[in-house]
Amino acid sequence: MTMEPKNVAVVGATGAVGTEMVQTLEQRNFPVKNLRLFASPNSEGKRMSFKGRDYVVEPLGEDSFEGVEIALFSAGSERSKKYGPIAARAGAVVIDNSSAFRMDPGVPLVVPEVNPHTVKNHKGIIANPNCSTIQMVVALYPLHKRARIKRIVVSTYQSVSGAGQKGINELNDQVRALYSFHSVVKKAFPHQIAFNCLPQIDVFAPDGYTNEELKMVNETRKIMEAPEILVSPTAVRVPVFHSHSESVNVEFESDLSPEEAKKIISGAPGCMLVDDPPNSVYPLALDAAGRDEVFVGRIRRDATVKHGLNLWIVSDNIRKGAALNAVQIAEILQ
Ligand SMILES: NC(=O)c1ccc[n+]([C@@H]2O[C@H](COP(=O)([O-])OP(=O)(O)OC[C@H]3O[C@@H](n4cnc5c(N)ncnc54)[C@H](OP(=O)(O)O)[C@@H]3O)[C@@H](O)[C@H]2O)c1
Repeated sequence: MTMEPKNVAVVGATGAVGTEMVQTLEQRNFPVKNLRLFASPNSEGKRMSFKGRDYVVEPLGEDSFEGVEIALFSAGSERSKKYGPIAARAGAVVIDNSSAFRMDPGVPLVVPEVNPHTVKNHKGIIANPNCSTIQMVVALYPLHKRARIKRIVVSTYQSVSGAGQKGINELNDQVRALYSFHSVVKKAFPHQIAFNCLPQIDVFAPDGYTNEELKMVNETRKIMEAPEILVSPTAVRVPVFHSHSESVNVEFESDLSPEEAKKIISGAPGCMLVDDPPNSVYPLALDAAGRDEVFVGRIRRDATVKHGLNLWIVSDNIRKGAALNAVQIAEILQ
C-alpha cells in the first residue's frame, strides 16, 4: 500500500526526542508533503536538515497548525496540554510524547507491536507511552499472550537522555568538571549523576513511588488491556547517555520454560534475542543506542515462585522509547 504524503509538524523539534523524530521520518522514508518545525522562541531561525533540505525552526503559536495533518509533539506536558487540542481542532492528528493525555480513557495509548487496533479510536489525539513502559511491553506482551502475566517486578537503569538534552549535558559537564577538579553543578537531577545511581526519576507521590514508577504500573495495564496485572516498579537514573536497561521478574499463570520464552522472543515483532551468557553475550545499553529493536536476554527461571522468569530488557529510550514509536503510529494512520 502506498502512503499518501502528509503535511507534518514536529513540535519540540530541537529537543532530544524532536531531533530523533526528524531523523526517523527521514530514515523510514515517511511520505512528507510539507514539514514544519516548531520549538521555543529561543530556537527561532535555527536550521535543521531533512532529506538534504534546510528547514527553519519556527516559534510555536496558536496559529501554527493550519493545514497540518500529523502533529508530532515532544515539547513537554505543558505545551501538549495547551497546543495539543488546538492542533486537533485545526484538523491534525496529534501524536503526543508527553504524559498529558496517556491515562485519558478517550485517548489511545499505543505501542504498535502490542495494541495497533486502538489507533482507529482516536478523536484527534493519540498518546505515546513512557519510554521505560514501551520497551517492557514490547518484550512482555508476546509472553503474556502465551502464559498470562500475573505480576511484574521491574527495576530500571535509565539513561540521562531520558531527561532530555539537559540530562545529556549535565552528565557530560559533571564528568568534565570532576576530571578537571572543578565543582559539580546540579540542575537536571536532584544529586550528582556522574559516577552515581539515583533512585528517583520525577517527583514522589504520597505512596512513596515516583511518577515514573506509577507510569509503568498504569500504562502497562492500559496498553496490554490487562488491568489485573500487578506491577511493582523501582526506577533508577544511571550515568549512561543512551538506552534504558531493565531487570524484569515476571510471574505467569501457567508454566513457560526459558527455552520457549527465548523462542517466542526470537519471533516477536520489534524484539531481538541476545542471550548467550557463557560467552558474555546479553543486551547492553551501548549496543542498543541508535537501534530500533528491544533487546532481550538473561532469560532464566525464577525458582522462587511457581511460574517465574527473569529477563534483562534494553532499548534506546529516544528511539523506540519515543521517536520511532511515534512515527510507527503515524504509519498506521496512513
Ligand atoms: N527523552 C526521552 O527519553 C523521552 C522519552 C519519551 C517521552 N519523552 C517526552 O518527550 C518530550 C520531550 O522530551 P525531550 O527529552 O526531547 O526534551 P528536551 O530535549 O528538553 O526538548 C524539549 C523541546 O521542547 C521545546 N520547548 C520547550 N519549551 C517550549 C515552548 N514554550 N514552546 C515550544 N517549544 C518548547 C524545546 O525547544 P528549545 O530547544 O527551543 O528550548 C525542545 O525542542 C517530553 O514530554 C518528554 O517527557 C521523552
